[in-house]
Amino acid sequence: MPDPFYVTTPIYYVNDVPHIGHAYTSVLADVLARWHRLNGCEVYFLTGTDEHGQKVEEAAAKAGRTPQEHVDLTSQSFREMGKLLDLTNDRFIRTTDADHVEYVQSVLQGLWDKGEIYKSAYKGLYNVRDERFYSESDIREGRGPAEGEPVEEVEEINYFFRMSAYQQRLLDHIQQNPDWIVPDYRRNEVLGFLRQPLGDLCISRPKWRLSWGIELPFDKDFVTYVWFDALLNYVTGPRGAKRCDGSDWWPASVHLIGKDILTTHTVYWPTMLMGAGIPLPRQILAHGWWMVDGQKMSKSLGNVIDPFEVARQYESVGGAEAFRFFLMRDMVVGQDSSFSEAGMAKVVNGDLANDVGNILSRIRKQILTQFEGVIPALPRTLSEASKALRDKALSVLAEFPNQMRLFRVNVALEETMSLARAINAYLETTAPWKLAKDESKRQELSEALSVSSEALRLLLVLLSPVIPKKASHALALMGGEKAEPGKLVWGLLPTGSQFQDGPVLFPRLEIKKPESEKPAKPESKQPSATTDPVKSPFELLDLRVARVDAAEDHPTAEKLLVLTLDVGELGKKQVCAGIKAHFSASAMVGRKVLLVANLKKAKLRGVESYGMILAADNPDGSVHLLAPQGEVGAFATVEGLDHKPGQNLAIEVLDPVVLEIQSGALAFEGKVVTAGGAQIGCTAVDGSRAH
Ligand code: MSP
Repeated sequence: MPDPFYVTTPIYYVNDVPHIGHAYTSVLADVLARWHRLNGCEVYFLTGTDEHGQKVEEAAAKAGRTPQEHVDLTSQSFREMGKLLDLTNDRFIRTTDADHVEYVQSVLQGLWDKGEIYKSAYKGLYNVRDERFYSESDIREGRGPAEGEPVEEVEEINYFFRMSAYQQRLLDHIQQNPDWIVPDYRRNEVLGFLRQPLGDLCISRPKWRLSWGIELPFDKDFVTYVWFDALLNYVTGPRGAKRCDGSDWWPASVHLIGKDILTTHTVYWPTMLMGAGIPLPRQILAHGWWMVDGQKMSKSLGNVIDPFEVARQYESVGGAEAFRFFLMRDMVVGQDSSFSEAGMAKVVNGDLANDVGNILSRIRKQILTQFEGVIPALPRTLSEASKALRDKALSVLAEFPNQMRLFRVNVALEETMSLARAINAYLETTAPWKLAKDESKRQELSEALSVSSEALRLLLVLLSPVIPKKASHALALMGGEKAEPGKLVWGLLPTGSQFQDGPVLFPRLEIKKPESEKPAKPESKQPSATTDPVKSPFELLDLRVARVDAAEDHPTAEKLLVLTLDVGELGKKQVCAGIKAHFSASAMVGRKVLLVANLKKAKLRGVESYGMILAADNPDGSVHLLAPQGEVGAFATVEGLDHKPGQNLAIEVLDPVVLEIQSGALAFEGKVVTAGGAQIGCTAVDGSRAH
């Protein structure tokens, strides 16, 4: 039996409305929960709302409600967000829930009885937005560091938790458990913080200043500090539930948090638990922040992304499911990411419609017309092409869990999409639509459709934690298949399953562009080799959409992959690419890349290379390939340029050509580059250089 899995999201402040940041953590937790259930694990998933504190008290007074009436109302929108995003949480905890209040009081009493809490005078700079005291060095012009809200000087008698007593134990714990805080740069941040002496934690507020909180059981004139109350939700949450073997759910397997609440979770929280004699959570994952079109999201800029609005806007392509997929595919876990319509369009049209949707409709059409809907049985012996596809599926099945274990959902999805591209490449190679025209090729046709159906089934099961409804709908069409434990094994598609006809499950998003932005028709821009003077060195380049047919490690050069590319009318080309540190050979197969196709032949450590594929350098050191959507062989153009590609160019021709990522796509001197009428997408952040 695999280990049980208990995952939490932060509990959200009810004075805010749900936005993309809340949606992201919630979906990430849900995807991890669903993935573990798919692996047969027992799972507990907790989310909820943080309802005490000064901000809530003030907002309620402003709205003319009691604080309780106010939070009853405002917490609803987070529950609604959960429904919208199809979260499978086991409990939606509210810090006003009676069992939570009672538990917090019992922990406080225990700490008081043990002498872990003492009373003392306190003077400090308090920020209402963050519900925190700040030190002088954090303050800029009288404002707090987070949202820049004013701080006020507060002096009062308060209760303190002896946090400083646990500094060394905490340091030891972090040092002895290198994976306790991930990613490692967040761990280093905490270790840096702990190099300074740690003070004690003020855990009370006098009622005359704040009454909307949990009363200290040993002094009725005080309520507890909102973070002391909030953090304990993680223990209260599953207290009423038990694991199958009767044991408690605590400690949590992982707390998912945003990078801004790192100190509260990795310093306050573990020391509180140490003081109370409660085991520590097993891991804490701090993710980055969502920006919008590269800008910080804020109410004043009016660019707050509302999940309900996104779901409405993208309803025709799956609404909330498309949003879930985008959130998981786009954010490199740990790093910041940017939401943009272009980014949504790229994943909806590229990954879902072009890749997954295409496979489904191609296979379904052939099975319905050629085999009356009955999926043919897998043959005993497979052709070389079928074996290669099966091996690709097996390697993705092996790699996906590794990436999920490291919470790299985006990498796991990249692997999954490489399987999708491999299935499409297999379908193009075997061409069932051609085989169907030749009676003597029934055997081959049957093999192509059964092998691709089985790979599609696995692809859908892998996608099911991220797009549960679409995946289960598609699986249901494949003879009532299900995403359940035990299904991630090659060869389980039952013989004789009946493929159903049904609606288009992964439709394309129609993007209406203003006339002026429409790319020129590709045929008017076909390359014409000439010796005329050029306006820009870009005009000399022959940039082509190519598809990776095969990829392998270079025999001796550590950093190189050797790719075999299909470049449409230019035929097949072998290219060495220095990307091995970032992409495995198997992840490259089936992928579309952008090739500089007219460079002089080069020999790289003995292997010939006929061109170069383009990639962008993200500022965080990651490398992102350009991902054109145009058809294989399409020529890349920029409006206003007169393309006159030369031949056998020296690589230096690229030196003066500044290619940049803008709005998620390739641009040259601020103008979008297109190939086959489509932009050339890239997941590197805007401003990254491509070369
Ligand atoms: N109530 C506290 C958490 C208590 S947990 C015991 C809180 N609430 S919050 O509503 O302000 O934030 C909740 C989460 O949203 C945090 O993890 C925060 O990092 C995250 N985000 C807020 N804005 C965000 C983005 N723009 N992008 C991604 N996540 C962000 O803090």
